[in-house]
Amino acid sequence: MSYCMSSDEAVESRHAVRRFAEEPISADERAALEEAVAAANADGTLHMRLAYDDPEVFSSALARRAGFVNVNNYLVVAGHSSNNLDMRAGYFAEKVALEAQRLGLNSCWVAATYKRRTVRQTLAQKDKLVAIIALGHGTTQGEAHRSRTVAQVARPVTNAPEWFSRGVRYALLAPTAMNQQTFWLQLTRKTNADGMPLVGLSTNGGPCARVDLGIVKLHFELGAGMENFAWADPVVR
Ligand SMILES: Cc1cc2nc3c(=O)[nH]c(=O)nc-3n(C[C@H](O)[C@H](O)[C@H](O)COP(=O)(O)O)c2cc1C
Repeated sequence: MSYCMSSDEAVESRHAVRRFAEEPISADERAALEEAVAAANADGTLHMRLAYDDPEVFSSALARRAGFVNVNNYLVVAGHSSNNLDMRAGYFAEKVALEAQRLGLNSCWVAATYKRRTVRQTLAQKDKLVAIIALGHGTTQGEAHRSRTVAQVARPVTNAPEWFSRGVRYALLAPTAMNQQTFWLQLTRKTNADGMPLVGLSTNGGPCARVDLGIVKLHFELGAGMENFAWADPVVR
């Protein structure tokens, strides 16, 4: 399977897409997605699963009112209940969403506007459903979301190292529930034992705020580069 774009281009071009074409996800695309999910499940200790050609979970009036049309494929984001499940799920499922984007597919995270009970019934007993991600060939590529400013989500704003500013820019491109962008990124004056600058990541709350944090953590890492910093707290893992 050949990729349409790099991870950086995927971060830049990904937007929520809720309306999909009839075109199914091809065998090659499925194989690449399955590989990405297997890696994310192993690295994140999650039990995510892809579902294809199943229009049922987006067949409710609620889903239609939210703008979902022709959603036949989705990723179930789930794992054993634990105090960091939401954040871990956000981080590793967003890896799959960006991989889908690289394959030329489109996606939308969905925590509320789908038939949650129908999906929950398919889970193993100890698993908790975090959200699902609609996947497929979009009828459009979506649109850039309205965004908070750098000053509303990060410090320092001026005289920040280039890698930090790039990380914050990537974080602002990340999907968040209801586009709330309630995260906060802080470049501290501290370094770790290896002399790496420490960056703090926290949230001001809101629905799915900890899922958002995991997504934002991944985007910041892709923008800033892990060779330039370390996280101040052991947030995910
Ligand atoms: C954790 C999470 C939950 C979401 N839940 C829903 C949802 O239930 N229904 C919906 O229509 N969109 C949902 N979204 C999509 C967001 O509204 C969308 O990502 C946000 O407006 C930012 O737009 P973008 O994805 O184009 O950057 C969710 C996004 C995230 C990250």
